[in-house]
Amino acid sequence: MVKKMEYNWKSWWRSLQRNNYFVIKLGASVLLVGLAFTLLYNRSSDFSPVSHAPFLENTQILAPPVISVNSQKNTDQIPTQVYAEYGTESRDNEGKCNLFIWGLGSLSGEPFYTNRSCSFIEDHQNCMKNGRMDTDYLYWRWTPRGCELPRLDPEKFLDLMRNKSWAFIGDSISRNHVQSFLCILSTVEKAIEVYHDENYKSRKWVFPSSNFTISVLWSPFLAEAAIFEDINGVSTSEIELHLDILDKNWTEQYKSLDYMIFSGGKWFTKTAIYYENNTPLGCHYCPKRNFTELGFNFAYRKVIRNVFDYIIASNHKGMIFYRTSTPDHFEGGEWFNGGTCKRKLPAKEGEFELNELNRILRDIELEEFEKASIKASENGVNFRLLDVSPLSLLRPDGHPGPYRFFQPFAKDKYAKVISDCLHWCLPGPIDSWNDILMEMIVNG
Ligand SMILES: *[C@@H]1O[C@H](CO)[C@@H](O)[C@H](O)[C@H]1NC(C)=O
Ligand SMILES: *[C@@H]1O[C@H](CO)[C@@H](O)[C@H](O)[C@H]1NC(C)=O
Ligand SMILES: *[C@@H]1O[C@H](CO)[C@@H](O)[C@H](O)[C@H]1NC(C)=O
Ligand SMILES: *[C@@H]1O[C@H](CO)[C@@H](O)[C@H](O)[C@H]1NC(C)=O
Ligand SMILES: *[C@@H]1O[C@H](CO)[C@@H](O)[C@H](O)[C@H]1NC(C)=O
Repeated sequence: MVKKMEYNWKSWWRSLQRNNYFVIKLGASVLLVGLAFTLLYNRSSDFSPVSHAPFLENTQILAPPVISVNSQKNTDQIPTQVYAEYGTESRDNEGKCNLFIWGLGSLSGEPFYTNRSCSFIEDHQNCMKNGRMDTDYLYWRWTPRGCELPRLDPEKFLDLMRNKSWAFIGDSISRNHVQSFLCILSTVEKAIEVYHDENYKSRKWVFPSSNFTISVLWSPFLAEAAIFEDINGVSTSEIELHLDILDKNWTEQYKSLDYMIFSGGKWFTKTAIYYENNTPLGCHYCPKRNFTELGFNFAYRKVIRNVFDYIIASNHKGMIFYRTSTPDHFEGGEWFNGGTCKRKLPAKEGEFELNELNRILRDIELEEFEKASIKASENGVNFRLLDVSPLSLLRPDGHPGPYRFFQPFAKDKYAKVISDCLHWCLPGPIDSWNDILMEMIVNG
């Protein structure tokens, strides 16, 4: 059961605005957004800079500090203790393992691949190559509480996926995930790229011997959107987001795909004007425009409801996942005012709580999924939740931090370097997302 918690986004927004410090931060960050993007993004990168955006202006402006004391115990959402043994309480009535209640972590997991053996790792997430020296984060493995989670068997998996096609649909975290997936499977056979768009945002690979294809489809809103950002991620105008039109980037391929993993979230916190029937309905964070402030939660709920309705009505015979949004771990500030993620160990119980922004996104995901999954199963559509949010919350040690760039402290060990505490190092913790996927596919 999902505990219902109603958020009043508007009162939260007003209370932030009442805070002078916030106003100063807001002013400063608008300037910094441009600066940071100019500093951070490297045009020669193989990947488009905009889409990396760990530093989405409004996410950063709105998000309160990440760490807060865990005062409220809600067993549905707060991660479970990680350093203690557990019994068998995470099995359901049929004795099946609940893959999303996490227990004992161990230092025993060898990474599937290394920065040397896998060529699919984007430079910004290749933490070892960029000079990160500590390695414990590569070995911590999480087990569901009280039951075993076998590791993905790449050989078996490729065999199982003969002639099948997959797509990861979403933003830069989906791309982070697809690279992890490709690295693991490529330990058996190297995937070959067969398609990429102009900016390498949407791509497709094939494993020749099993005729298995994997795509990543760039669709940060899952809905139709006009985005006015230059190559440095600086926007020249508000995003125009059509809440009632799904993005062709994925709908055009939907029927031909066997497995899909959708996700979204963070991009919704950006400044945007919301449209319905091609008519402006309101906006999010547009003080200079005469539109009703609707809140990003309004837009996110509307869009994922439309996505879910589309899935429910689709009569699709494959398997469709919605991956919950992942938390960031900035400490001591946000990305633009010195926030870092220097931890070298997973978090203990209650050390991190989802910040308000992440909690709002997650509550929408859980509430909408709960309703949709009932209708989907009535229609015979295999629609599943890949709830990586709680276990990702326990891994503040898994982000690139300053090692987004090559040897960031080479010239000056006290250099002020902007940290990426949102994306994940590869190899790294999100490799286990694939163990969960395989388990859900093989054992339901
Ligand atoms: C892998 O990381 C090591 C440092 O751990 C670095 O010396 C090496 O250049 C990296 N190799 C590649 C291919 O990224
Ligand atoms: C894969 O497709 C090929 C060609 O269409 C077919 O011969 C083969 O039987 C298929 N294999 C599976 C496991 O579906
Ligand atoms: C590869 O799989 C697709 C289905 O995804 C099938 O249409 C095609 O014939 C297969 N090709 C080969 C060479 O087996
Ligand atoms: C669809 O993908 C292209 C790149 O492949 C991208 O430029 C465009 O913004 C995407 N559409 C939406 C609505 O995000
Ligand atoms: C803003 O919109 C309201 C209602 O649509 C209208 O009454 C008002 O005149 C507008 N104000 C400006 C400055 O355009």
